[in-house]
Amino acid sequence: MGRKIAFVRTDGCRKRRKSMWGNGFGAKKCGWMEDGSGVPRLLGVRSLKCSAFEMLVKQRLNLVKSRFAVVFCGLFVEIGGLSFVKVHAMPRLPVVAVVGATGAVGVEFLACLEQRKFPMKELRLLASARSKGKKVTFKGAALTVEELTEGSFKGVDIALFSAGAGISRKFAPIAVQAGAVVVDNSSAFRMVEDVPLVIPEVNPEAIKLHKGIIANPNCSTIIAITPLWPIHKVNRIVRFIAATYQAASGAGAAAMEELRESTRAYLEGREYKNTVLPHPYAFNLFSHNSKIDPATGYNEEETKMVKETWKIFGDKGMRISATCVRVPVLRAHSEALNVECARPITPAEVRAILAKAPGVRIVDDVEKNYMPMPKDASGQGDILCGRIRTDVSDPSGKSFCMFVAGDQLLKGAALNAVQIAEYLV
Ligand code: A2P
Repeated sequence: MGRKIAFVRTDGCRKRRKSMWGNGFGAKKCGWMEDGSGVPRLLGVRSLKCSAFEMLVKQRLNLVKSRFAVVFCGLFVEIGGLSFVKVHAMPRLPVVAVVGATGAVGVEFLACLEQRKFPMKELRLLASARSKGKKVTFKGAALTVEELTEGSFKGVDIALFSAGAGISRKFAPIAVQAGAVVVDNSSAFRMVEDVPLVIPEVNPEAIKLHKGIIANPNCSTIIAITPLWPIHKVNRIVRFIAATYQAASGAGAAAMEELRESTRAYLEGREYKNTVLPHPYAFNLFSHNSKIDPATGYNEEETKMVKETWKIFGDKGMRISATCVRVPVLRAHSEALNVECARPITPAEVRAILAKAPGVRIVDDVEKNYMPMPKDASGQGDILCGRIRTDVSDPSGKSFCMFVAGDQLLKGAALNAVQIAEYLV
Protein backbone atom coordinates (compact mmCIF):
# COMPACT_ATOMS: atom_id res chain seq x y z
CA MET A 1 0.00 0.00 0.00
CA GLY A 2 1.09 3.59 -0.22
CA ARG A 3 4.33 4.36 1.49
CA LYS A 4 6.22 7.54 2.09
CA ILE A 5 9.85 7.11 1.34
CA ALA A 6 12.40 9.85 1.86
CA PHE A 7 14.62 9.93 -1.15
CA VAL A 8 17.78 11.63 -0.14
CA ARG A 9 20.76 12.51 -2.22
CA THR A 10 24.21 11.36 -1.24
CA ASP A 11 25.49 14.87 -1.75
CA GLY A 12 23.80 15.95 1.43
CA CYS A 13 20.55 17.43 0.03
CA ARG A 14 18.46 15.51 2.52
CA LYS A 15 14.75 14.87 2.20
CA ARG A 16 14.58 15.94 -1.39
CA ARG A 17 12.88 13.68 -3.82
CA LYS A 18 15.25 13.05 -6.65
CA SER A 19 14.11 11.97 -10.05
CA MET A 20 17.08 9.76 -10.45
CA TRP A 21 15.42 7.02 -12.38
CA GLY A 22 12.38 9.01 -13.34
CA ASN A 23 10.23 7.82 -16.17
CA GLY A 24 6.81 8.14 -17.71
CA PHE A 25 3.51 7.46 -15.96
CA GLY A 26 4.19 10.21 -13.43
CA ALA A 27 6.04 7.58 -11.51
CA LYS A 28 7.99 8.26 -8.40
CA LYS A 29 11.39 6.84 -8.67
CA CYS A 30 14.10 5.37 -6.54
CA GLY A 31 17.55 6.56 -5.78
CA TRP A 32 20.15 6.89 -3.12
CA MET A 33 18.92 6.58 0.41
CA GLU A 34 20.84 7.77 3.41
CA ASP A 35 19.48 5.65 6.24
CA GLY A 36 21.19 7.49 9.06
CA SER A 37 24.16 5.13 9.23
CA GLY A 38 26.15 7.42 7.00
CA VAL A 39 26.40 4.67 4.39
CA PRO A 40 24.55 5.49 1.17
CA ARG A 41 22.39 2.60 -0.04
CA LEU A 42 20.87 2.09 -3.42
CA LEU A 43 17.20 1.78 -2.79
CA GLY A 44 15.38 -0.68 -4.95
CA VAL A 45 12.75 -3.34 -4.99
CA ARG A 46 14.66 -5.60 -2.64
CA SER A 47 14.93 -2.90 -0.02
CA LEU A 48 11.21 -2.64 0.54
CA LYS A 49 8.51 -4.84 1.93
CA CYS A 50 5.95 -5.78 -0.70
CA SER A 51 2.25 -6.18 -0.46
CA ALA A 52 0.69 -9.39 -1.77
CA PHE A 53 -0.42 -7.56 -4.90
CA GLU A 54 3.05 -6.22 -5.52
CA MET A 55 4.50 -9.69 -5.14
CA LEU A 56 2.06 -10.87 -7.74
CA VAL A 57 3.15 -8.17 -10.15
CA LYS A 58 6.77 -9.10 -9.61
CA GLN A 59 6.06 -12.75 -10.18
CA ARG A 60 4.30 -11.90 -13.43
CA LEU A 61 7.30 -9.89 -14.54
CA ASN A 62 9.66 -12.73 -13.65
CA LEU A 63 7.47 -15.00 -15.73
CA VAL A 64 7.82 -12.64 -18.65
CA LYS A 65 11.53 -12.55 -18.01
CA SER A 66 11.93 -16.31 -18.13
CA ARG A 67 9.63 -16.71 -21.13
CA PHE A 68 11.32 -14.16 -23.30
CA ALA A 69 14.78 -14.30 -21.79
CA VAL A 70 14.82 -10.56 -21.37
CA VAL A 71 17.18 -9.08 -18.82
CA PHE A 72 15.60 -6.56 -16.49
CA CYS A 73 17.37 -3.76 -14.79
CA GLY A 74 15.00 -4.09 -11.88
CA LEU A 75 14.35 -0.39 -11.44
CA PHE A 76 11.85 0.46 -8.79
CA VAL A 77 8.82 2.56 -9.51
CA GLU A 78 5.94 3.72 -7.36
CA ILE A 79 2.66 4.39 -9.10
CA GLY A 80 -0.34 5.54 -7.14
CA GLY A 81 1.08 4.02 -3.98
CA LEU A 82 1.67 0.65 -5.60
CA SER A 83 5.17 -0.54 -6.24
CA PHE A 84 6.51 -2.76 -8.93
CA VAL A 85 9.54 -3.37 -11.01
CA LYS A 86 10.06 -1.21 -14.01
CA VAL A 87 11.32 -3.42 -16.76
CA HIS A 88 14.30 -2.40 -18.81
CA ALA A 89 14.91 -4.93 -21.50
CA MET A 90 18.51 -5.52 -22.50
CA PRO A 91 18.61 -5.74 -26.27
CA ARG A 92 20.36 -8.68 -27.87
CA LEU A 93 22.82 -6.23 -29.41
CA PRO A 94 23.35 -3.52 -26.78
CA VAL A 95 24.88 -0.09 -27.22
CA VAL A 96 28.05 -0.11 -25.11
CA ALA A 97 29.89 2.94 -23.77
CA VAL A 98 33.41 2.83 -22.38
CA VAL A 99 34.14 5.66 -19.93
CA GLY A 100 37.88 6.25 -19.67
CA ALA A 101 38.46 4.70 -23.10
CA THR A 102 41.91 6.26 -23.48
CA GLY A 103 43.21 5.03 -20.11
CA ALA A 104 45.26 1.96 -19.27
CA VAL A 105 42.16 -0.09 -18.38
CA GLY A 106 40.02 1.54 -21.10
CA VAL A 107 42.33 0.31 -23.84
CA GLU A 108 42.04 -3.21 -22.41
CA PHE A 109 38.25 -2.91 -22.28
CA LEU A 110 38.35 -2.45 -26.05
CA ALA A 111 40.76 -5.35 -26.52
CA CYS A 112 38.54 -7.66 -24.41
CA LEU A 113 35.34 -6.60 -26.17
CA GLU A 114 36.98 -7.28 -29.52
CA GLN A 115 38.74 -10.54 -28.62
CA ARG A 116 35.72 -11.99 -26.83
CA LYS A 117 33.41 -10.93 -29.68
CA PHE A 118 31.12 -9.12 -27.28
CA PRO A 119 27.77 -8.67 -29.05
CA MET A 120 27.19 -4.97 -29.68
CA LYS A 121 25.16 -2.70 -31.86
CA GLU A 122 27.43 0.26 -31.25
CA LEU A 123 30.47 1.18 -29.19
CA ARG A 124 30.92 4.69 -27.78
CA LEU A 125 34.25 5.86 -26.45
CA LEU A 126 34.22 8.51 -23.74
CA ALA A 127 37.10 10.31 -22.05
CA SER A 128 38.01 13.80 -20.90
CA ALA A 129 37.92 16.91 -23.09
CA ARG A 130 41.67 16.37 -23.61
CA SER A 131 40.96 13.30 -25.73
CA LYS A 132 37.97 14.63 -27.67
CA GLY A 133 38.32 13.78 -31.36
CA LYS A 134 41.12 11.27 -30.84
CA LYS A 135 40.84 8.21 -33.10
CA VAL A 136 40.97 4.72 -31.65
CA THR A 137 40.95 1.54 -33.74
CA PHE A 138 38.35 -1.07 -32.90
CA LYS A 139 37.79 -4.13 -35.10
CA GLY A 140 39.78 -2.44 -37.84
CA ALA A 141 37.64 0.72 -37.85
CA ALA A 142 38.61 4.12 -36.47
CA LEU A 143 36.27 5.27 -33.68
CA THR A 144 36.29 8.85 -32.43
CA VAL A 145 36.61 9.53 -28.71
CA GLU A 146 33.87 11.81 -27.37
CA GLU A 147 34.02 14.05 -24.34
CA LEU A 148 32.16 12.60 -21.35
CA THR A 149 29.16 14.79 -20.53
CA GLU A 150 25.84 14.33 -18.76
CA GLY A 151 24.24 13.66 -22.15
CA SER A 152 26.68 10.90 -23.14
CA PHE A 153 24.47 8.00 -22.05
CA LYS A 154 21.37 8.53 -24.16
CA GLY A 155 20.56 5.16 -25.76
CA VAL A 156 23.40 3.37 -23.94
CA ASP A 157 22.56 -0.10 -22.56
CA ILE A 158 25.86 -1.04 -20.90
CA ALA A 159 28.46 1.42 -19.61
CA LEU A 160 31.91 0.20 -18.60
CA PHE A 161 33.55 2.77 -16.32
CA SER A 162 37.25 3.15 -15.56
CA ALA A 163 38.02 6.83 -15.16
CA GLY A 164 38.47 7.00 -11.39
CA ALA A 165 36.08 7.02 -8.44
CA GLY A 166 35.16 10.72 -8.73
CA ILE A 167 33.98 10.33 -12.32
CA SER A 168 32.07 7.16 -11.39
CA ARG A 169 30.35 8.85 -8.46
CA LYS A 170 29.19 11.69 -10.68
CA PHE A 171 28.37 9.91 -13.93
CA ALA A 172 27.36 6.32 -13.03
CA PRO A 173 24.00 7.45 -11.53
CA ILE A 174 23.44 9.60 -14.64
CA ALA A 175 24.12 6.57 -16.85
CA VAL A 176 21.69 4.47 -14.79
CA GLN A 177 19.08 7.17 -15.02
CA ALA A 178 19.48 7.11 -18.80
CA GLY A 179 18.72 3.38 -18.74
CA ALA A 180 22.21 1.86 -18.79
CA VAL A 181 23.62 -0.86 -16.57
CA VAL A 182 27.00 0.28 -15.26
CA VAL A 183 29.93 -2.03 -14.61
CA ASP A 184 32.25 0.16 -12.57
CA ASN A 185 35.94 -0.53 -12.16
CA SER A 186 36.49 2.16 -9.53
CA SER A 187 36.18 1.91 -5.77
CA ALA A 188 33.18 4.31 -5.73
CA PHE A 189 30.39 1.76 -5.15
CA ARG A 190 32.17 -1.42 -4.11
CA MET A 191 31.16 -1.29 -0.48
CA VAL A 192 27.66 0.12 -1.08
CA GLU A 193 25.39 -2.51 0.43
CA ASP A 194 23.09 -3.12 -2.51
CA VAL A 195 25.73 -2.94 -5.23
CA PRO A 196 26.96 -6.40 -6.24
CA LEU A 197 30.74 -6.80 -6.08
CA VAL A 198 31.55 -9.54 -8.51
CA ILE A 199 34.23 -11.92 -9.66
CA PRO A 200 32.40 -14.12 -12.17
CA GLU A 201 34.36 -17.24 -11.14
CA VAL A 202 33.30 -16.65 -7.52
CA ASN A 203 29.86 -15.04 -7.18
CA PRO A 204 28.19 -14.67 -10.59
CA GLU A 205 24.80 -15.11 -8.92
CA ALA A 206 25.18 -11.62 -7.41
CA ILE A 207 25.03 -10.00 -10.86
CA LYS A 208 21.28 -10.40 -11.21
CA LEU A 209 20.70 -8.56 -7.93
CA HIS A 210 21.97 -5.32 -9.39
CA LYS A 211 19.91 -2.16 -9.42
CA GLY A 212 21.82 -0.46 -12.17
CA ILE A 213 25.40 -0.63 -10.92
CA ILE A 214 27.72 -3.62 -10.59
CA ALA A 215 31.16 -3.06 -9.07
CA ASN A 216 34.40 -4.62 -10.21
CA PRO A 217 36.61 -5.49 -7.23
CA ASN A 218 40.06 -4.06 -6.58
CA CYS A 219 42.74 -5.71 -8.73
CA SER A 220 44.75 -7.08 -5.78
CA THR A 221 41.59 -8.60 -4.34
CA ILE A 222 40.67 -10.32 -7.62
CA ILE A 223 44.17 -11.70 -8.13
CA ALA A 224 44.39 -13.07 -4.57
CA ILE A 225 40.95 -14.54 -4.14
CA THR A 226 40.04 -15.98 -7.55
CA PRO A 227 42.31 -18.98 -6.77
CA LEU A 228 41.37 -19.01 -3.07
CA TRP A 229 37.64 -19.41 -3.71
CA PRO A 230 37.70 -23.03 -5.01
CA ILE A 231 39.87 -23.99 -2.02
CA HIS A 232 37.53 -22.17 0.38
CA LYS A 233 34.58 -24.14 -1.01
CA VAL A 234 36.31 -27.46 -0.20
CA ASN A 235 38.12 -26.56 3.03
CA ARG A 236 37.06 -23.27 4.57
CA ILE A 237 39.80 -20.65 4.67
CA VAL A 238 39.79 -19.17 8.16
CA ARG A 239 42.71 -16.79 7.68
CA PHE A 240 45.03 -15.53 4.99
CA ILE A 241 47.88 -13.08 4.83
CA ALA A 242 48.87 -11.43 1.58
CA ALA A 243 52.00 -9.54 0.58
CA THR A 244 51.57 -7.86 -2.79
CA TYR A 245 54.06 -6.89 -5.47
CA GLN A 246 51.98 -4.41 -7.46
CA ALA A 247 52.66 -3.13 -10.94
CA ALA A 248 52.58 0.47 -12.19
CA SER A 249 49.43 -0.14 -14.27
CA GLY A 250 47.29 -0.06 -11.12
CA ALA A 251 48.03 3.66 -10.92
CA GLY A 252 47.09 4.25 -14.57
CA ALA A 253 48.75 4.92 -17.89
CA ALA A 254 50.67 7.93 -16.57
CA ALA A 255 52.30 5.81 -13.84
CA MET A 256 53.34 3.23 -16.45
CA GLU A 257 54.91 6.02 -18.46
CA GLU A 258 56.66 7.33 -15.36
CA LEU A 259 58.17 3.87 -14.77
CA ARG A 260 59.40 3.69 -18.38
CA GLU A 261 60.76 7.24 -18.40
CA SER A 262 62.41 7.11 -14.98
CA THR A 263 64.07 3.77 -15.84
CA ARG A 264 65.41 5.25 -19.09
CA ALA A 265 66.67 8.31 -17.20
CA TYR A 266 68.29 6.17 -14.49
CA LEU A 267 70.16 4.05 -17.06
CA GLU A 268 71.31 7.16 -18.91
CA GLY A 269 72.43 8.79 -15.68
CA ARG A 270 69.91 11.61 -16.04
CA GLU A 271 67.94 13.28 -13.26
CA TYR A 272 64.25 12.39 -13.22
CA LYS A 273 61.58 14.16 -11.19
CA ASN A 274 58.66 11.84 -10.40
CA THR A 275 55.29 13.55 -10.77
CA VAL A 276 52.73 10.71 -10.78
CA LEU A 277 53.86 8.46 -7.96
CA PRO A 278 55.19 9.77 -4.65
CA HIS A 279 58.61 8.10 -4.81
CA PRO A 280 61.31 7.32 -7.36
CA TYR A 281 60.14 4.16 -9.13
CA ALA A 282 63.07 2.97 -11.24
CA PHE A 283 65.08 0.25 -9.44
CA ASN A 284 63.07 0.89 -6.30
CA LEU A 285 59.90 -0.27 -4.56
CA PHE A 286 57.70 1.41 -2.00
CA SER A 287 54.74 0.86 0.27
CA HIS A 288 51.48 1.26 -1.70
CA ASN A 289 50.74 4.91 -2.44
CA SER A 290 47.19 4.88 -1.01
CA LYS A 291 46.40 6.75 2.19
CA ILE A 292 47.32 5.11 5.51
CA ASP A 293 44.68 5.07 8.23
CA PRO A 294 46.52 6.28 11.35
CA ALA A 295 44.13 4.32 13.56
CA THR A 296 44.94 0.92 12.04
CA GLY A 297 48.23 1.51 10.24
CA TYR A 298 46.73 -0.12 7.13
CA ASN A 299 46.66 1.70 3.81
CA GLU A 300 43.48 1.87 1.72
CA GLU A 301 44.61 -0.84 -0.70
CA GLU A 302 45.15 -3.26 2.20
CA THR A 303 41.79 -2.41 3.75
CA LYS A 304 40.09 -2.91 0.39
CA MET A 305 41.53 -6.42 0.15
CA VAL A 306 40.08 -7.30 3.56
CA LYS A 307 36.62 -5.76 3.17
CA GLU A 308 36.08 -6.72 -0.46
CA THR A 309 36.98 -10.35 0.25
CA TRP A 310 34.45 -10.43 3.08
CA LYS A 311 31.76 -9.07 0.76
CA ILE A 312 32.55 -11.31 -2.23
CA PHE A 313 32.95 -14.50 -0.17
CA GLY A 314 30.07 -13.55 2.13
CA ASP A 315 32.30 -14.48 5.07
CA LYS A 316 33.07 -11.71 7.54
CA GLY A 317 34.61 -14.25 9.88
CA MET A 318 37.62 -14.73 7.62
CA ARG A 319 40.72 -13.19 9.21
CA ILE A 320 42.75 -11.31 6.63
CA SER A 321 45.82 -9.12 6.66
CA ALA A 322 47.71 -7.58 3.75
CA THR A 323 50.85 -5.60 3.05
CA CYS A 324 50.66 -3.85 -0.31
CA VAL A 325 53.79 -2.77 -2.11
CA ARG A 326 54.35 -1.09 -5.47
CA VAL A 327 57.18 -2.72 -7.47
CA PRO A 328 58.77 -1.54 -10.74
CA VAL A 329 56.79 -3.90 -12.98
CA LEU A 330 54.61 -2.55 -15.76
CA ARG A 331 51.30 -4.41 -15.66
CA ALA A 332 50.97 -7.67 -13.67
CA HIS A 333 50.59 -7.92 -9.92
CA SER A 334 52.14 -10.77 -7.92
CA GLU A 335 51.18 -11.79 -4.40
CA ALA A 336 52.60 -14.08 -1.73
CA LEU A 337 49.71 -15.74 0.08
CA ASN A 338 49.80 -17.53 3.39
CA VAL A 339 46.56 -19.41 3.91
CA GLU A 340 45.10 -21.24 6.90
CA CYS A 341 42.20 -23.65 6.36
CA ALA A 342 39.75 -25.09 8.85
CA ARG A 343 41.12 -28.62 8.34
CA PRO A 344 44.54 -29.98 7.34
CA ILE A 345 45.32 -29.59 3.64
CA THR A 346 48.22 -30.88 1.54
CA PRO A 347 49.92 -29.17 -1.43
CA ALA A 348 48.67 -32.05 -3.60
CA GLU A 349 45.09 -31.28 -2.56
CA VAL A 350 45.56 -27.57 -3.33
CA ARG A 351 46.98 -28.44 -6.77
CA ALA A 352 44.14 -30.87 -7.49
CA ILE A 353 41.54 -28.22 -6.63
CA LEU A 354 43.26 -25.49 -8.65
CA ALA A 355 43.80 -27.79 -11.65
CA LYS A 356 40.01 -27.86 -12.13
CA ALA A 357 39.27 -24.25 -11.16
CA PRO A 358 38.21 -21.67 -13.76
CA GLY A 359 40.38 -18.61 -14.34
CA VAL A 360 43.53 -20.03 -12.75
CA ARG A 361 46.56 -21.94 -14.08
CA ILE A 362 49.19 -23.79 -12.11
CA VAL A 363 52.77 -22.72 -12.89
CA ASP A 364 54.77 -24.64 -10.30
CA ASP A 365 57.78 -26.38 -11.82
CA VAL A 366 59.93 -27.14 -8.79
CA GLU A 367 62.68 -28.87 -10.79
CA LYS A 368 63.22 -25.88 -13.07
CA ASN A 369 62.27 -23.39 -10.34
CA TYR A 370 59.80 -21.90 -12.83
CA MET A 371 57.11 -20.08 -10.90
CA PRO A 372 54.50 -17.37 -11.60
CA MET A 373 56.12 -14.25 -13.00
CA PRO A 374 54.57 -10.94 -14.07
CA LYS A 375 56.12 -11.34 -17.53
CA ASP A 376 54.12 -14.56 -18.05
CA ALA A 377 50.98 -13.21 -16.38
CA SER A 378 50.94 -10.09 -18.61
CA GLY A 379 48.63 -10.06 -21.61
CA GLN A 380 46.62 -13.15 -20.66
CA GLY A 381 43.61 -13.73 -18.42
CA ASP A 382 44.54 -16.50 -15.97
CA ILE A 383 45.84 -16.09 -12.44
CA LEU A 384 49.09 -18.07 -12.37
CA CYS A 385 49.57 -20.10 -9.15
CA GLY A 386 52.79 -21.66 -7.91
CA ARG A 387 55.14 -22.17 -4.95
CA ILE A 388 52.35 -24.28 -3.49
CA ARG A 389 53.75 -25.75 -0.29
CA THR A 390 52.84 -26.55 3.28
CA ASP A 391 53.43 -23.66 5.64
CA VAL A 392 55.99 -25.16 7.99
CA SER A 393 55.32 -22.47 10.59
CA ASP A 394 51.96 -24.12 11.33
CA PRO A 395 52.48 -27.65 12.73
CA SER A 396 48.74 -28.43 12.46
CA GLY A 397 49.08 -28.97 8.69
CA LYS A 398 46.15 -26.62 8.04
CA SER A 399 48.23 -23.90 6.37
CA PHE A 400 49.83 -23.56 2.97
CA CYS A 401 51.77 -20.92 1.05
CA MET A 402 51.25 -19.93 -2.56
CA PHE A 403 52.61 -17.30 -4.95
CA VAL A 404 50.28 -15.91 -7.60
CA ALA A 405 50.57 -13.49 -10.52
CA GLY A 406 47.80 -11.98 -12.62
CA ASP A 407 47.46 -9.24 -15.21
CA GLN A 408 46.22 -6.20 -13.30
CA LEU A 409 44.74 -4.65 -16.45
CA LEU A 410 42.97 -7.83 -17.60
CA LYS A 411 41.68 -10.15 -14.85
CA GLY A 412 42.35 -7.40 -12.30
CA ALA A 413 40.18 -4.91 -14.21
CA ALA A 414 38.99 -4.98 -17.84
CA LEU A 415 38.55 -8.70 -18.37
CA ASN A 416 36.66 -9.16 -15.11
CA ALA A 417 34.33 -6.27 -16.05
CA VAL A 418 33.70 -7.60 -19.56
CA GLN A 419 33.02 -11.07 -18.09
CA ILE A 420 30.40 -9.42 -15.86
CA ALA A 421 28.90 -7.60 -18.86
CA GLU A 422 28.63 -10.93 -20.68
CA TYR A 423 26.14 -12.03 -18.05
CA LEU A 424 23.95 -9.04 -18.92
CA VAL A 425 23.42 -9.91 -22.58
P1 A2P B 1 41.93 11.27 -20.81
O1 A2P B 1 42.88 10.32 -21.48
O2 A2P B 1 41.20 12.12 -21.78
O3 A2P B 1 42.56 12.04 -19.67
P2 A2P B 1 44.25 6.04 -16.42
O4 A2P B 1 43.59 5.20 -15.37
O5 A2P B 1 45.13 5.26 -17.31
O6 A2P B 1 44.91 7.25 -15.80
O7 A2P B 1 43.07 6.59 -17.36
C1 A2P B 1 42.06 7.41 -16.88
C2 A2P B 1 40.96 7.52 -17.92
O8 A2P B 1 39.95 8.35 -17.36
C3 A2P B 1 41.41 8.18 -19.22
O9 A2P B 1 40.69 7.64 -20.30
C4 A2P B 1 41.03 9.62 -18.99
O10 A2P B 1 40.78 10.35 -20.16
C5 A2P B 1 39.73 9.43 -18.25
N1 A2P B 1 39.40 10.64 -17.51
C6 A2P B 1 40.14 11.29 -16.59
N2 A2P B 1 39.51 12.40 -16.18
C7 A2P B 1 38.34 12.46 -16.85
C8 A2P B 1 37.25 13.38 -16.88
N3 A2P B 1 37.23 14.46 -16.10
N4 A2P B 1 36.22 13.11 -17.71
C9 A2P B 1 36.23 12.03 -18.49
N5 A2P B 1 37.24 11.12 -18.51
C10 A2P B 1 38.27 11.34 -17.71
